Amino acid sequence: MEELLRLENLTKTFPEVVALKGVNFSVMKGEVHALVGENGAGKSTLVKIVSGVERMDHGGALYYKGNRTEICDPHSAQKLGISVIYQELTYVPELTVAENIFLGREPVLAPGIIDWKTLRAKTRELLSRLDIRLEPDIQLKHLSTAQRQMVEIAKALSLQAEIIFMDEPTASLTEHEIRTLFKIIRELKSSGVTIVYISHHLEEILEISDRVTVLRDGEWIATRQAGELDIGGLISMMVGRDMNHLFPPRTPGPPGEEILRVENLNRGESLRNISFSLKQGEILGFAGLVGAGRTEVARAIFGADPPDSGEIRLKGKPVSPRSPQEALKCGIALVPEDRKEEGLVLSMSVEHNITLGNLNGVCRGNFFINHAREKQVVDGYIKDLQIKTPLVTMEVRRLSGGNQQKVVVAKWLFIPSYLIIFDEPTRGIDVKAKYELYELMYRLVQEGIGVIIISSELPELIGICDRILVMHEGEITGELVKGEFSQEKIMEYATGGAYEKETA
Ligand SMILES: Nc1ncnc2c1ncn2[C@@H]1O[C@H](COP(=O)(O)OP(=O)(O)OP(=O)(O)O)[C@@H](O)[C@H]1O
Ligand SMILES: [Mg+2]
Repeated sequence: MEELLRLENLTKTFPEVVALKGVNFSVMKGEVHALVGENGAGKSTLVKIVSGVERMDHGGALYYKGNRTEICDPHSAQKLGISVIYQELTYVPELTVAENIFLGREPVLAPGIIDWKTLRAKTRELLSRLDIRLEPDIQLKHLSTAQRQMVEIAKALSLQAEIIFMDEPTASLTEHEIRTLFKIIRELKSSGVTIVYISHHLEEILEISDRVTVLRDGEWIATRQAGELDIGGLISMMVGRDMNHLFPPRTPGPPGEEILRVENLNRGESLRNISFSLKQGEILGFAGLVGAGRTEVARAIFGADPPDSGEIRLKGKPVSPRSPQEALKCGIALVPEDRKEEGLVLSMSVEHNITLGNLNGVCRGNFFINHAREKQVVDGYIKDLQIKTPLVTMEVRRLSGGNQQKVVVAKWLFIPSYLIIFDEPTRGIDVKAKYELYELMYRLVQEGIGVIIISSELPELIGICDRILVMHEGEITGELVKGEFSQEKIMEYATGGAYEKETA
């Protein structure tokens, strides 16, 4: 096989941290090469250098098709045939699917006059190649995260890239969409396109990639054939030691008094007759396909999208929050799914993002921030959640993707609550930090706080929950208690029975 891209002695120094330290990395033409490592290991930085967003330090070199090349800006990367799907999506919400895909490259009838017919036709062709049912004219702001990500992938395809870097492309895709993406990756590969694939889903990595490179703390650790690896081996290379369990041990006590009771919640078409309860001491999971209504249940309880009818009781008292502020006052917190949009002030420091939601918790008297207390709080979360940041005063935007997510989780944990709903809390978080987060949830439950977790990772729900409710098209279609959990049963409820037929 022919070498397409080679990085030699790649180093990247930021003022606060050295993100990459003399990394050598080589990609063969037509392979799927996975890049793995913990949050902050340097994966996205490597991608940014190859795509011209960041410059490497002196002393490193980049070879493309055997020639030493400088990539100074995104445009020169694009010209070489290098395309990137970034971890942070870069769409324009106000523009349509077609406009986003061909932004700046719209087909024209005459200078300045866009050829809408061709634009739509080309978009339809790309989308159908990706097996996505989407109208070219719909604005991105009306789409789900998963759909927006697919548009991004269509855009990369439209650039006719020779090599596509995918930075966590499946983080918010459904199982069906992941299958579709893998099919496309295989097709691209057979037509000679090279893929560099970044993900924290290690099963996916082993399934889709030919070779795997592991980074740890900015250093190259190994490059191996995927076929020679198993998940345990991959994890120990990533974290630098063996990790025998993905879930911490737990001995749940008997369930205590009721924390939450929800009766007959309805909201438009999206929620129908939702009833359930949560007792002290238990972790309750919500399973279901994307769009089944799990996030809507959370938002209804949190007052973000209040229900049309139904009753919510918190510790026996009826509550009906009409806004998130009211919910927080009642003691209900929601760690949102879309953390970038709803959770963080990117230009603020790590410490202020964590304490922002509960300044009373770090104040002395009414006015003065108690800095010693603030430091203690922030240091505690940094340790508990393994937030990798050189300084607590660093702007959040400069943390790696996974570490930004941990900051949001910390922020919500610091707001005193009786009930915390976590919506996809481990998305983009590495395997070791997941473990720490589960331990933290166990601790919350032990302290008497109610914990609900919405997750699309069935092994995660099965690993940590005491009870799982399954949703399908706005309704709760199944309930399973620990001991009777199985992926098949959950999928059966989640698809309204269609799964059984499909696999039979
Ligand atoms: N603009 C920046 N300024 C300062 N430090 C930065 C900047 N960009 C990245 N870093 C630091 O470089 C290191 C590597 O970050 P990077 O985003 O490459 O990690 P990653 O492997 O992609 O992690 P994740 O799995 O969380 O996405 C981190 O310590 C991060 O804080
Ligand atoms: Mg990253």
